[in-house]
Amino acid sequence: MTAPLTTRILKADATSVAEAARVLAAGGLVAFPTETVYGLGADATNGRAVARLYEAKGRPAFNPLIAHVVDLKAAQALARFNAKAVRLGKAFWPGPLTLVLPKAAKCRVAELATAGLDTIAVRIPDHKVARDILSALGEPVVAPSANRSGHVSPTRAEHVQADLAGRIDLIVDGGATPVGVESTIVGCLDGPVLLRPGGLPRAAIEAALKQKLAYAPTGIAGGDNAPLAPGMFATHYAPRTRLRLNIRRVEAGETLLAFGPTLPEGAKSAEKVLNLSARGDLIEAASNLFSHLRALDAAGARAIAVMPIPGEGLGEAINDRLARAAAPR
Ligand code: TXA
Ligand code: MG
Repeated sequence: MTAPLTTRILKADATSVAEAARVLAAGGLVAFPTETVYGLGADATNGRAVARLYEAKGRPAFNPLIAHVVDLKAAQALARFNAKAVRLGKAFWPGPLTLVLPKAAKCRVAELATAGLDTIAVRIPDHKVARDILSALGEPVVAPSANRSGHVSPTRAEHVQADLAGRIDLIVDGGATPVGVESTIVGCLDGPVLLRPGGLPRAAIEAALKQKLAYAPTGIAGGDNAPLAPGMFATHYAPRTRLRLNIRRVEAGETLLAFGPTLPEGAKSAEKVLNLSARGDLIEAASNLFSHLRALDAAGARAIAVMPIPGEGLGEAINDRLARAAAPR
């Protein structure tokens, strides 16, 4: 755990918006109002900032996050839009709609923010404060609802303060949020699917698409939301290569996912070694988790041997993802 922070609370105005962008650019955490609920923002391109965000929320697992951007052009730099996705974006953005789409090849969002998935949730919020912060930063901002894990979503700055004071850098107070429930999430990987009901009514979406939406609730098992999603909305990262967890020694033909300064027996003959954090820092380890797993998976070795990771702080979420990635399929 990191030492408690002093959480500043500033009324929304030009000065606090500029300060919010400065704090985000420096890797800090800023809660701000959107039209739905208050979001807890981090620079989406900064893996360490994203790791700090998960720690501040106290999530026992890495749930993928929504990337907030200011316009359709910025959204298309992150994700691939099919015709129906473009139609929904044009009809309802800015507004309380989130689209889950295939990640663009050059997407700059940190692997940790999408929990290693090949899809990404994108939203263009319709709130002046959120939009001004996004414009001032000039990068996508990941923002889950600004509550502690398991608590309800905050619709006023005081709710954020009650949950997260001492854990984040800044709260921009823009008063009560007008919609008051989270965005509606629609998956557009193939046919459109309703993943989470929310502030945009299903009927409005169906009218725009001229078709009915199937409802397939998503969310990471053990996270804030409904368990298990079917088929293509895979909710956790799964490498092709087998994982061996909590190893004491590296066997022949294995790669090594290391943690900390002391490598195990057999490390010298490993096919490839990547260290989550040579100094044993769990925030740094979280920010490297999915990118290192991908790189070791690509090496195509017999197995990926994973050193033990301590269970405290972000270690709980890291171990959760490793256990899922190692589960037999
Ligand atoms: O209104 C909102 O959407 C608010 C404001 C701040 O924008 N944000 C919000 O974020 O509600 P959060 O993290 O509390 O909920 C995001 C949901 C989670 O259930 C997550 O599992 C799902 O979106 N999600 C994110 N990326 C996904 C993906 N690639 N595939 C499937 N579900 C995804
Ligand atoms: Mg939430």
